[in-house]
Amino acid sequence: MTAKAANASNAALKQVWGAENYEKNARFVSDMTSEVVAWLAPRAGERILDLGCGDGVLTEKLVQAGAIVTGADNSEALLAAARKRGLDVEFKDGQALDYGPEFDAVFSNAALHWMTRAEDVVKGVARALKPGGRFVAEFGGHGNIAAIVTALRAVAVAHGKDPARAAGWFYPTPAEYRALLEANGFLVDRIGLFPRPTPLPTGLRGWLSTFRESYFEQWPERKRPEILAELEALLAPALRDQTGNWTADYVRLRVAATRS
Ligand code: BEZ
Repeated sequence: MTAKAANASNAALKQVWGAENYEKNARFVSDMTSEVVAWLAPRAGERILDLGCGDGVLTEKLVQAGAIVTGADNSEALLAAARKRGLDVEFKDGQALDYGPEFDAVFSNAALHWMTRAEDVVKGVARALKPGGRFVAEFGGHGNIAAIVTALRAVAVAHGKDPARAAGWFYPTPAEYRALLEANGFLVDRIGLFPRPTPLPTGLRGWLSTFRESYFEQWPERKRPEILAELEALLAPALRDQTGNWTADYVRLRVAATRS
C-alpha cells in the first residue's frame, strides 16, 4: 500500500495502547530484535533517538550499549512504563518530529507501520539527524499479516460492515521505501524484506483484541464472540498448528540509510 492510500484508509483506526495489555499480548514486538540492533551498532557516547520507543524495553538495551538515548512515543501509557525504567523519553507524534540536527542515529523498531504519513516521518527523521547520521529501522513490510487482513476484510464484507477497518497500516515494498528515503536526503545502505513468522502467545484472540479493537467496534458487544469464532475458523488452516498454537504471518522491512 502506498503512503497515500494508507492515509486514506486509516481515518477510523486510531490505536490506543495500554501498558499491561501490551506486556501480555505484544511483548514479542521487542523480542526478536538482535538483527536490527546489530544493524544500528550503537556506540558509547553517541546520541540516539528511539522513535516509537513503546515501554522502553529495547531503548534500555541501547542505553546499556553506552549510547545517550532519547525515546519518543505517542502513548502516555507506554511512556509511563518507560519512565519507570529510568529512561529519558518524551511524548512526540512521529509524523511531526520537531528535533533539529542533534542525533547521531535514529532507530525504530515495530513502530513505523503505525505512522501512515510516511513522508512526514522521513522528513522529521532527516531533520533530526546530523549530516552523516544513521537511520536504522525495522517495521511491517509489503505483505505483512496478509492472511489476517484478508480474513478480517472477508468477514466484514460478509456482515455488511466496513472492510477498511481491517487495515490501515503502512507496509511499503523496499522499492517504495528506498524511493521515499532517496527523495528526502538519504543514501540507502541496505534494505530488504523478509518473512518473520511470529508466535502469538495469547492466540489470535489476544492479538486481535490488542491491535484491532476498532474493527470489532463495528458490532455490538454480544455479537463479537461470533465474529471472533468466524475469524478463527477462517485462519486456523493457515496460522494454527496441530497443537493449537497460533503464528502470525509477519513480514518485516529492515533498512539502514545515511543522511547525506
Ligand atoms: C506488526 O508488528 O507488524 C504489527 C503489529 C500489530 C498490528 C499490525 C502489525
